[in-house]
Amino acid sequence: MKNTLTYDSYQEASTVSKKIKSKNLKKTISGFLGLKTLIDETNKQIVKKITVQKESKINPQYPLQFKNIRRELGCDFGLYDDLKRGTAVLTNNNELNQYIYSYGNMHKAKLDKTYTKLFESLDLYSNNKIEILDYACGQGLASIVLLNYIENNFDYCLSNIQKITLVEPSEVALKRAEKILNQSANICTINESFDDLTEKHFNSDKSVTKIHLFSNILDMGDEYFDMKHIADVIAKSQGGINYFVCVSALNKVKLDSFKEMFELFDGFTDISSFEGRFTNHQGWKMKFNIFKIGG
Ligand SMILES: C[S@@+](CC[C@H](N)C(=O)[O-])C[C@H]1O[C@@H](n2cnc3c(N)ncnc32)[C@H](O)[C@@H]1O
Repeated sequence: MKNTLTYDSYQEASTVSKKIKSKNLKKTISGFLGLKTLIDETNKQIVKKITVQKESKINPQYPLQFKNIRRELGCDFGLYDDLKRGTAVLTNNNELNQYIYSYGNMHKAKLDKTYTKLFESLDLYSNNKIEILDYACGQGLASIVLLNYIENNFDYCLSNIQKITLVEPSEVALKRAEKILNQSANICTINESFDDLTEKHFNSDKSVTKIHLFSNILDMGDEYFDMKHIADVIAKSQGGINYFVCVSALNKVKLDSFKEMFELFDGFTDISSFEGRFTNHQGWKMKFNIFKIGG
């Protein structure tokens, strides 16, 4: 994907370089060609980090239910400590499988509760197209559980999901997320840490309702990434109606300060919040904020 600034500079450089060529000013040409090469290289680097599927899915399929994925892949490899309480950027399949084994059921349970609240406010049938954006998606758990939830609770045609955008610094996790979700919708992957994102990474359609998922990541905010930066990137790049689903086990203060960054936007609506524990024997902690801007 070429961003506007560098694309314009590229066009300008090519035009001028053609004119100079005709005057046979060899020395100056090499300067412009150098600029062109530099711009081409920069564009190549952006393209390398973003992949977008252009074809729309002819017959989209819901992904496997998460419990089946966990049954198939979740395995205790003795790597629990390497996960660093979920904060590590994972580097191999054994770590991915350990993550599913150690955290999968707890994260799924928290997401299910949160999605119940989301869909009390978001009427899937009244919104035409939907885009899901899953930030620090890991293996795509939040998107998978969301699609499972929709499949289990609604009679919803998957072709209304225009795109799933997956953002994640771990290449191996991102590839797995893409593989699992690939049959369900067009996938855009962005292999970046939050602090390296700019609005140019996103291509937003104002007419599409966006669901932004922050699952088990905002509690790491301002220690691992700048929360204000990611909020700014979203604010600059996303128009139309935007729902935010922010869920974590810890640190409600971080979730609240992220929400506050959007409170002055048009159409801000505080939909639902929770801070407490599951009543099951594990007593898992759960915090969530759901809010909306635009529309
Ligand atoms: C606890 S996991 C959550 C993964 C997934 N959202 C879920 O709920 O299972 C935290 C994720 O944050 C990613 N991560 C770590 N540092 C990051 C950063 N600076 N920017 C963006 N993501 C980061 C990790 O690679 C990991 O996938």
